[in-house]
Amino acid sequence: MTAMRLAESDLFASVALIDVVPGLAAGLALDMWHGAGLYGFSTTIEGSDDPAALGGAEYIVITAGRPRQPGMNRTDLTVVNAAILETTCRAIRIHAPEATVVVVTNPLEEMTHLAARYTGFSDERVIGMAGVLDSARFCSLVGLTGRAKPREVRALALGSHGPEMVIPLSQAFVGDKPIESVLDRETLQGIVERTRESGGEVVKLLQKGSAYFSPAESVVTMVRAMVADRGEVLPVCVRTRAAYGLRDARVGLPVRLGRHGVKEIVNLPLRSDEQVALHDAAARIAARIDELGTVR
Ligand code: 2OP
Repeated sequence: MTAMRLAESDLFASVALIDVVPGLAAGLALDMWHGAGLYGFSTTIEGSDDPAALGGAEYIVITAGRPRQPGMNRTDLTVVNAAILETTCRAIRIHAPEATVVVVTNPLEEMTHLAARYTGFSDERVIGMAGVLDSARFCSLVGLTGRAKPREVRALALGSHGPEMVIPLSQAFVGDKPIESVLDRETLQGIVERTRESGGEVVKLLQKGSAYFSPAESVVTMVRAMVADRGEVLPVCVRTRAAYGLRDARVGLPVRLGRHGVKEIVNLPLRSDEQVALHDAAARIAARIDELGTVR
């Protein structure tokens, strides 16, 4: 879905799909290419099970890994997906040493940390996709209230792509109105809670696999922002050594994106409770990352 939407955007000369299953990526890519005339794009799409197809990539989106099954939380995927990430990042280091990497694989913060470690790339070039998806989910759930269309809502999901997700309502708006003047606190709290659980809600309904339409569009939004290089601010999982009073944390923060990833972390005037929640999220993520050291 990500490859298809990137091809449709016609931002690149080519999009390559790579999967370890022989023929899978090639078959999907050929099927997508068959529709090129109907979709109206000229980006070529190729598929391969050979990591050498990474060669020369400017952007690499890592979705490799097991998705959650019903009843699992993202952290249940850590061991199996850490091994997949290590293999994937070794190939990236060899075949595309200049690429900017967008990680989607869960558990998101841990896998983004490992991608930075295993590629050895600078932190600016290794980012995680979570906040754009979680923000979009929040906006869509506000849309269900009938008080606004999703595209009229602006919000930033920060912190973690999980239970420590922080959606600072002081930074959320419907048009130019603060969201807290449009919806009551109880309704908003319910939407925040449902946003946190939305990934799992889809997994439970699908019973096999996890979401891909809105995650794909979230990745495309990030890649489009980087290619445009206009400094668009998006919520992105990044490493920070000082922003928001955090010391050396991997966490979702408002980030100005440029051609090669992070240009700067944007300091927003969060309320004290929002700041506390962000620090709590960073601390819990750091504890999970520390446990990675023992991952075998
Ligand atoms: C989600 O929240 C897969 O983490 C992704 O749907």
